[in-house]
Amino acid sequence: MDPQTLLLSIFTPEGRENPFPALEALRETAPVYYDKDLDTYFLTTYAHCQAVLTDTAFRTPDLSWCEEHLPDWRDHPAADFFYASMLRANHPDHSRLRRLVNAGFTPRRVAALQSAVEDLTDGHLDALADASAHGRAVNFQELVGYPLPVAVAGELIGVPAADRPRFRRLGSDASRLLEPVRSPEDWARADAAVTELRAYFEELLQRRRREPREDLATVLLEAQEGQERLTRRELVDTLLLVFVTGFETATATLGLVTHALLTHPDQRDLVTGDPELAAQAVEEALRWDSPVLMTERIATERTEIAGVTIPVGANVTTVLTAANRDPAQFPDPHRFDVRRSGTKVLSFGAGPHYCLGAALARLEGTVAVRRLFARFPELAVSGVPVRRESYSLRVYENLPLTAHGSVTSPDRATTITRHESEGVTSS
Ligand code: HEM
Repeated sequence: MDPQTLLLSIFTPEGRENPFPALEALRETAPVYYDKDLDTYFLTTYAHCQAVLTDTAFRTPDLSWCEEHLPDWRDHPAADFFYASMLRANHPDHSRLRRLVNAGFTPRRVAALQSAVEDLTDGHLDALADASAHGRAVNFQELVGYPLPVAVAGELIGVPAADRPRFRRLGSDASRLLEPVRSPEDWARADAAVTELRAYFEELLQRRRREPREDLATVLLEAQEGQERLTRRELVDTLLLVFVTGFETATATLGLVTHALLTHPDQRDLVTGDPELAAQAVEEALRWDSPVLMTERIATERTEIAGVTIPVGANVTTVLTAANRDPAQFPDPHRFDVRRSGTKVLSFGAGPHYCLGAALARLEGTVAVRRLFARFPELAVSGVPVRRESYSLRVYENLPLTAHGSVTSPDRATTITRHESEGVTSS
């Protein structure tokens, strides 16, 4: 098969389910493949993807890119937010933002969220137990995969529990921005969601100015580096970015790791036998079926990669899902092996834009795996899972499971999770 056919095949229903043979063939035949129609260079080896993501000669498409490629960007609040955000900013703006926002993601702050993440997980597993009583098949994503990351992001940011239900729809609509190709409907939904979320976060920040709390909104208000502080707009847009980037990626991870363990019973037995392996299971699932399929950069210098010249201004797409199955980096890459150790997955990107929420995402996944498999020893896939038709995210929309035989998790310290009007407490 020619490289273009291989590449396009990963976006068919079968290819979406199993893109790995096509990505392997593409890596072997054309590891740096320029697609004329899509006007981008696709990279599929680990070494090339890592090199581009860590090389400052490759920049993320920012507002100056927008001027050229999306001339009506000012008509779209979503573009105005997204392309000026940290994810799409370049040095020196990016470095300044990142220095200030880092204060909200220190190891101490992530560790402080652990018990809230545990309580929220148990609350959502209660809902799973109720819905799946009497052996009924349920959609794991509907009950846990989507609502749990909304709740965790809400806890991190400081969104009161009562306000969170509408965040699921807003988050999904705003996340359309993460797709490389957006329809007019995608723009309309993203614009409306961004406008509503900006108003919400503006109001939340005003409340935190009057009444500080232990949350990201307060930390960002207080963040200062020398003379530098976040502007009013940067404060709002950073909370928005954290929500948008941390929501469906975490949803994807929860579904992918659950599915991977359920379809590899020997690996699941290892994890239930030794809950310490839960963190490694999450890491291996992130490698084996990476939630973020690809991310792009723009070359600012003429560069040669594997004999192919990348001209200035060219678009380069790093295919993370392919890099994480590169045999040159991961021996026996198609084997799902929770005892693999020392792996350096590219699932969270690399270099200056390395995922700010990686530690929280790992915590969220590890807590979920540990508690889910301890509580539902008979958990099983009960139908054909359905993935979203997406170019950027590998996420299950529907992961049908039966979860009968629920037991109370032995390390569960609390039995009831009460959602107060502000935050979550356990009794
Ligand atoms: C397992 C789940 C997650 C995955 C797979 C993931 C993946 C990624 C990737 C690949 C990037 C880099 C994009 C690029 O270089 O173009 C990124 C950036 C980012 N992620 Fe995540 N992410 C996850 C969860 C989270 C969470 C939970 C948060 C926040 C609570 C978060 C916040 C961010 C932010 C703010 C950035 C931008 C960093 C920057 O531009 O400097 N992510 N993420």
